[in-house]
Parts: sequence; C-alpha cells; structure tokens
Amino acid sequence: MSQPAFAAIILAAGSGTRMKSAIPKVMHPVADRPMIAHLMHALEPLRPAATVVVIGPGMETVARLVKPAASVIQDPPHGTGDAVRIGLDRLASRLAPKGDVEDVLVLFGDTPLLTTRTLSMLLDERRCTDAAIIAAAMRPKEPGAYGRLVLGRDGKLERIVEAADATPEELAINLVNGGIMALAARHAGALVTALDRNNAKSEFYLTDIVPVARRRDLDCRVLELPEHELAGINTRADLAAAEALMQNRLRRDAMAAGATLIAPETVFLSTDTRLGRDVVIESNVVFGPGVAIGDGARIRSFSHIEGATVGVGAIVGPFARLRPGAVLEDEVHVGNFVEVKEARLGVGAKANHLSYIGDASVGAGVNIGAGTITCNYDGVNKWRTIIGERAFIGSNTALVAPVEIGAGAIVAAGSVVTRNVPADALTVARGQQVDKPDRATLIRARLGSKN
Ligand code: UD1
Ligand code: MG
Repeated sequence: MSQPAFAAIILAAGSGTRMKSAIPKVMHPVADRPMIAHLMHALEPLRPAATVVVIGPGMETVARLVKPAASVIQDPPHGTGDAVRIGLDRLASRLAPKGDVEDVLVLFGDTPLLTTRTLSMLLDERRCTDAAIIAAAMRPKEPGAYGRLVLGRDGKLERIVEAADATPEELAINLVNGGIMALAARHAGALVTALDRNNAKSEFYLTDIVPVARRRDLDCRVLELPEHELAGINTRADLAAAEALMQNRLRRDAMAAGATLIAPETVFLSTDTRLGRDVVIESNVVFGPGVAIGDGARIRSFSHIEGATVGVGAIVGPFARLRPGAVLEDEVHVGNFVEVKEARLGVGAKANHLSYIGDASVGAGVNIGAGTITCNYDGVNKWRTIIGERAFIGSNTALVAPVEIGAGAIVAAGSVVTRNVPADALTVARGQQVDKPDRATLIRARLGSKN
C-alpha cells in the first residue's frame, strides 16, 4: 500500500536579527552547506508531495537554492503562524479532503541537524494518532528562549507558552517546543486563520494553534525527539554549537565507513567529504567542500584540502594545501608546504617539498624538486604547464607558463625555464658558475678582516 501524501512548509522568512548578518540566516553554512540545504536533504527521502519554502523579501539566494521546491514571500514577517498561513495558501489546492495531502510538516529553516529518521517519526505519530497537531518536544539542560509545553493531566498538549510571555512557573517547565510540527492537513488552514497577535511580540505565533485546536475539541500531542537534532540556530554561538554537533556526526560516519581518524576532534569535514576505506587522517586536517580521498590514502597533519580528488594510496602533507581542481592520481606524494591548484599529478608523481603547482598537468612518475614553482600568472592571464611522464625537475626551478617539459627530460636545479624542453633532454637554464681561486682571501685582506 502506498503511503499517504504529505506536504512540507519550511519557514525561512524571519529576518534572523540575532545573527547580525547581511545574508539570510538559513544561508549560513554548517559543515560547508547552507542550513536550509541540510533540511531539504533530510526531507528528500520521504518524498513530500509538495514543499513550500516561506522566505522574506530579498532572499532570492534561498529561492534559487531550494529549487525545484516552491518559495513564497512573506512580507512583512508577522510571525511563524502568519508564515504557515502563507505557505498553506500556496498549497491550498493539494490539501485534503479534496486534494491528496493528508499531513503538513512544518519545519524551520534554522534547524539543520534534523535527520530523515526523526522527520519520519513525527509523520508516523501524526498518522497513527490522527491528532490535529503533533509538536516536537525536547528536554534541554537549559530551556532558555524555547517555548514551554504545558501538558494536561492526560499528557496531551494544552498550550505552548513563548519564553517572553511565560510566568516564572511556566519558565520552570523543562519540556520545550522544538518548533517543528506535524498537522492534519484537513484542519491546518482553519487553525492558522484563527490566530491573533495578543502576545509580547505582537506576532502571529504558530504555537497558538494549540489552544485554538483544543477549543474545537481537536487532539494535540507532543512527541519527544532528540534534543541535539532540534537545536534551533538564532545566534552565531548557536551556529558554532550546531557546527560542533555536525562535525561529530560526520566524524562518526567517516569512521563507521572505514576511515581512521587518529584525533577525530581535530579533523574538520565537509558535508560532502568522501573518504575511502583504510584512509588515515592524522590530526589537524581541514576538508573544504568537494573532496574525495581514495582507499588507503594518508592525509598527514595540518593539511588543508578543498575541491580535490586524491587517489588510492596517495600521501598528502604534513602541511599540504590542495585547492580546487587538484587531482592526485594513485600513489602520488605531495609533501610539506606544497600547494596544488587546478592541476593533475599522474600515478606515482612526487612533489615533496615547498612547491606551487598550479594550472598544470604532471605525468606519471615525475619528480618535482623542492622549491619548484609553476609561474602560471602573468598579471593578466593564467597559463598551463605540462610536464611529461618521468621528467625530473631540479630544485628551485621556475617553470614560466605556457611551457611544456617533454617526457623523461631533466631540468637542472635553479633553472628558469621559458621555452619548451624536448623529451629526454637535459636543460640547464641558469647563470654560469665562475670560480676565481684565492679571490676570497684577497677581498678579506682588502676589507681589513682579521680572519
Ligand atoms: C520558535 C517557537 C518556539 C520554539 C523555537 C524552537 C514560535 C512562536 N516560537 O521560536 O516555541 O521553542 O522556535 O526553535 O513559533 N519565521 C518566518 N516568518 C516569521 C517569523 C519566523 O518564516 O514571521 C521563520 C524563521 O526564519 C525561522 C523559523 O520561522 O526559520 C522560527 O523563527 P524564530 O524567530 O527562530 O523562532 P524562535 O524565536 O526560535
Ligand atoms: Mg529559532
């Protein structure tokens, strides 16, 4: 039997004042992915029949990001209840009894830690009980600014009191509103249109649909869900706390998938970081977006890697920097203080010390000596350097691009290479060495040195 359909409304129109930011709150990244994208990702496997994101004016970036989900503008933002009403209007044609949607999941764009499993539990509870409202509950150590859940003797939800409106007794309640709710689609519209603004913030509080429902003899319940998933981000400090939780989750997942993290608390992963089996990540490594590390590779301490692909058995670092477009094929070694950008290093190539390799193609088995620089930028344009397989580039060489070093060539240390080098040639492109016997002694005497 197919599951009944549900719709999701994601609230993201709030101005996020407490973030003190020029960008919308829900666009702030957690583990390199905007918070709202985490939520969309968690929602996806549940296949909502429709998703509407409620945004504020000037939030085109959010509208673009959430596509193909629809977005609707709430202007001005009159509160969470008002936002849900606007979202429901957009969904109107699909709501039961005429439409196909039975439940409406109300989510907040500022809760990026929610998992698919938890969303599905909330939805299941709504379907099993057929309650008009299921509110997500949690018991944090510090209930702080969260709304307090007031339960009746029967354990059912009577009302939700916002912290700003609560009496000292109500503030002492430690069961709080996680914010997200599952609503019966057939009642949702009537509940939100009955809301008023008689509260501390003069807003339409979504939370006030609970007493409205009770007056209509509708069932309202809570479902306790994991606190760490419901954490709502309102401030930069909340953002940092969510980042820490997300990092722990990513580290745990990476280890469960077969990577060794020697000091996991010092490794920072991106949501999309892919680590193969038997990869070893030493301490203090940072991964930006778009990184894949092949099986058995070792990433040594203090390396910074983003937009890069690392092959099987490669060794990177310590103190290496791989920038976007770096592709290291299998068994490549990139050592300390080496920066690679937009460059492919073929199987077994080595650049072990103090180099910049940018806009380059480096063949298999090439050895790049310490201090080699690809001079890829002439101040206006970027140019490519091509190094054929097995070539040997001596230390402290400047390869002035565009330039091509033939396969098997040897470039002498200290060279400044400005022309193409033929395959298997020896190229020396540096000043001649001149030795003048005893001249040092004469100079010292002239200068009056006593040595
Ligand atoms: C809300 C709940 C509170 C709960 C907490 C959990 C209400 C009235 N309060 O408070 O009980 O404990 O979440 O995190 O619901 N938004 C709009 N339009 C608006 C106002 C807000 O779209 O007019 C969006 C925001 O962008 C945000 C979400 O709704 O994504 C929640 O708003 P926020 O201001 O963060 O509510 P809280 O004060 O955290
Ligand atoms: Mg919030």
